[in-house]
Amino acid sequence: MLACALTAVADKGSLSLVPSVRECVEGNGSYRLVLDVGWKGSDWYDFDAVGRALCQARIVRRNDGALPAEGYSLNVTTSGVEISSSDAAGAFYAEQTLRQLATIENSNVVSFACVTVRDWPQYRWRGVLLDEARHFLGKVAVKRVLETMARHKMNVLHWHLTDDQGWRLDVPGHPALVKYGARRRQSVVFGSHARWLPPRYETQYEYDGVPYGPYYYDGDDIREILAYAKARHVMVVPEIEVPGHMRAFLAAYPECSCVGPGLPREPRCGWSIDDDVLCVGNDDAVNRYLDVLDGVCKMFPDASYIHIGGDECRRGRWKACESCQRRLREIGEESEDALQAWITTKVVRHLEGVGRRVVGWDEVLAGNVPTSTVGMTWRSEASGGAGTAFVSAATAVRRGHDMIMTPAEFCYLDMPQGLLNDPFPYYAPWTAPITLEKAYAFDPCAGIPESDRFHVVGGQASIWGECVHNVCDLEWKLWPRGCALAEVLWLGADKPGFEDFARRMTVHLNRMRTWNVIFAPLD
Ligand code: ACM
Ligand code: ZN
Repeated sequence: MLACALTAVADKGSLSLVPSVRECVEGNGSYRLVLDVGWKGSDWYDFDAVGRALCQARIVRRNDGALPAEGYSLNVTTSGVEISSSDAAGAFYAEQTLRQLATIENSNVVSFACVTVRDWPQYRWRGVLLDEARHFLGKVAVKRVLETMARHKMNVLHWHLTDDQGWRLDVPGHPALVKYGARRRQSVVFGSHARWLPPRYETQYEYDGVPYGPYYYDGDDIREILAYAKARHVMVVPEIEVPGHMRAFLAAYPECSCVGPGLPREPRCGWSIDDDVLCVGNDDAVNRYLDVLDGVCKMFPDASYIHIGGDECRRGRWKACESCQRRLREIGEESEDALQAWITTKVVRHLEGVGRRVVGWDEVLAGNVPTSTVGMTWRSEASGGAGTAFVSAATAVRRGHDMIMTPAEFCYLDMPQGLLNDPFPYYAPWTAPITLEKAYAFDPCAGIPESDRFHVVGGQASIWGECVHNVCDLEWKLWPRGCALAEVLWLGADKPGFEDFARRMTVHLNRMRTWNVIFAPLD
């Protein structure tokens, strides 16, 4: 091996790993490779020099059952690499760290800094939510996000594929879903959503008059994306909303609404929430939804979790619907809120019967639902949740629910970034700007007593799609704040602090440039 070109460094921070690692001792020199592997790529990520070096590197892999799940140890010496882990994900994350230790000396020579690392994650759900119901992004965008997630050791894609504004999944046996649900008559003019502030909330959009879609994924697309995700140890969790946010489903099956077959067969064109929801008093409507869910489960055979939405379900149609009122009497309840708990419980039992766990937005916890239901917190305090009582994460874990945390004020990355010059328009800011520092300050366990923290399984960056029109827009908003959240979710309370993170990020952004990732500046 040739001598090392890297300067010896004194602490783990100077390697500028993102996320940082738990234990790190630097050695002298580097493992240097003169590349002899030719281009082998099936996509652009395979064409990078570091990827080629990783294919060629001498890597000894060992199993070490003493390491925590997804954890690893990594030893780079001047003559090669040793990786130990107790599972395949740990070995994969060791390689992601190794990738970040690389210096591209020239197009033919890559060196990896000598180092010994021991590392493991704090949380097992380290996610990103993508919303393709509002704007369809397509396979290239999804794969780009999956790749960048994996390089930051993130492991769940929460895929918001259904909402009032679109249905993006061709479920076998249900062609009407994409025939009617995957297109819109028109959309909100890009930028006019800046008026999305109460009291003009619903009425002040401008519409473009341009038909949108049909845009959706078929079975082949899903298989391709799932294979891509699996190779990167990312679980893909589809979200199939019930009982609200399902106007696109009702476009396909208007008879499943409380209004009945006369409901216009089109998704909602404006943003915000539709009044029409699933008629939970109608057994046929409920069974139709369950049948669609069965089809979704077949399309996502490895998804141990299915997200059923459950947020912001308006109650007006249920109040006026004879069938729903009959259901309410049947279950001996008076408030329509009980109908949401009833349908949630029914869906939870159904999905658990086929071996899946259910995740729902925090609204689903308001009723008496099984404690096996995983809650996803987006509201951090009681706030206009369509008549539902608010259940905080602290209350939910006390009751025994596992929780995933994505509180809007830290984790909704479609919100402004607080940049000095930001060329992209955003939502009306209904949270204060989420700066990089604010994202880094996120603590998934905030307010949760020590004894209940084992119920906090993780968190996620959530990027809603109303103002995300394409992959450039998406990545600009997702990174680098997503890097901050990745570090929070990997290291938990052991994160080194924002100053340290910001310093590493100045180096890491250059690294991401070599990965072809689009990102916003640091401030
Ligand atoms: C949500 O933001 N309605 C989950
Ligand atoms: Zn009804």
